[in-house]
Amino acid sequence: MSEKIDPALPKVELHLHFEGAAPPAFIRGLAKEKHIDIAKIFTPDGGYAYRDFWHFLEVYEAACTTLQSPEDFRRLTLAVLEDRAKDGVVYAETFLSPDFCGVGDVTAWREYLLAIEEAALEAQKTMGITLKGIVTAIRHFGPDQSRATALCAAETKSDFLTGFGLAGDEKQFHPKDFTWAFDCAREAGLRLTAHAGEWGGPESVRDALDHLKVERIGHGVRAIEDLALVDQLAEQGTVLEVCPGSNVFLGVYPSFDKHPIDRLREREVKVTISTDDPPFFRTTLTQEYETLARAFGWTEDDFRAINRDAANAAFCDEATRARILQILEGRA
Ligand code: HPA
Ligand code: ZN
Repeated sequence: MSEKIDPALPKVELHLHFEGAAPPAFIRGLAKEKHIDIAKIFTPDGGYAYRDFWHFLEVYEAACTTLQSPEDFRRLTLAVLEDRAKDGVVYAETFLSPDFCGVGDVTAWREYLLAIEEAALEAQKTMGITLKGIVTAIRHFGPDQSRATALCAAETKSDFLTGFGLAGDEKQFHPKDFTWAFDCAREAGLRLTAHAGEWGGPESVRDALDHLKVERIGHGVRAIEDLALVDQLAEQGTVLEVCPGSNVFLGVYPSFDKHPIDRLREREVKVTISTDDPPFFRTTLTQEYETLARAFGWTEDDFRAINRDAANAAFCDEATRARILQILEGRA
């Protein structure tokens, strides 16, 4: 019998797609206000409807058509952070895409970013949750667009906008097609992460490390298929942003007990726990913890250690990191 996990346990979440965290009712409300017909992306019970990962990406982009202004993103920020705060999240990082915020135009992007940042500061005061942004290029939009996205990120690096990443369809293009964007972001002082090892095998994780020189990997779980790579990740301290419920929901693994997170951790890889796109995968961070506790016998002490690793891997300034570590230890 596994230990019951207190939902109020303070948590750090590093891998969260911003639009993917939008409550379906919020998106439905925006669609109604703007007379956009996206009824087909919802199930009869009001959730998001899709068949598989590739269809999920299409539905995701259809949901994004309702988000048309900085004001929409201000409201989205408050809705998303309210849900995270209910889950005990005290610090979150979220993937933001200029492609969905002003279609890659830097002047428009600045306005969207300002609205998100202002709402995040309001949430910090009222809900006690801190948010940082990671600009994310979308792989299937191609390398040319990734360059415009990287320039948007480089121009707007700040205490709030601290990272650069790569999401989208892992089967399209090669990491080396995105080296210009990652070099640009690195030169601007942004911290780097990329999705790999979810739909691609261990070679995709090696390619992300070699070509993009990232310090964290989104997912990365299929590294388990190459134990030399697992040892390399452990030795160099590469942090995996693991989203077990997302992997099970999308069929990367058939069940939690077949998920490699426990084996990766046993081999001393730094793993962290996130929800990816929680309403799409019908999960919450508390639910992820409870399912992991049941599958692997993890206790609150395991989750405390994982949250400390996540705080240490956060793309934030040192004052924020110290404050979050204090909250995790119950000293703030
Ligand atoms: N994975 C990859 N790309 C994405 C996701 C995801 O979960 N959500 C939005 N873009
Ligand atoms: Zn993701």
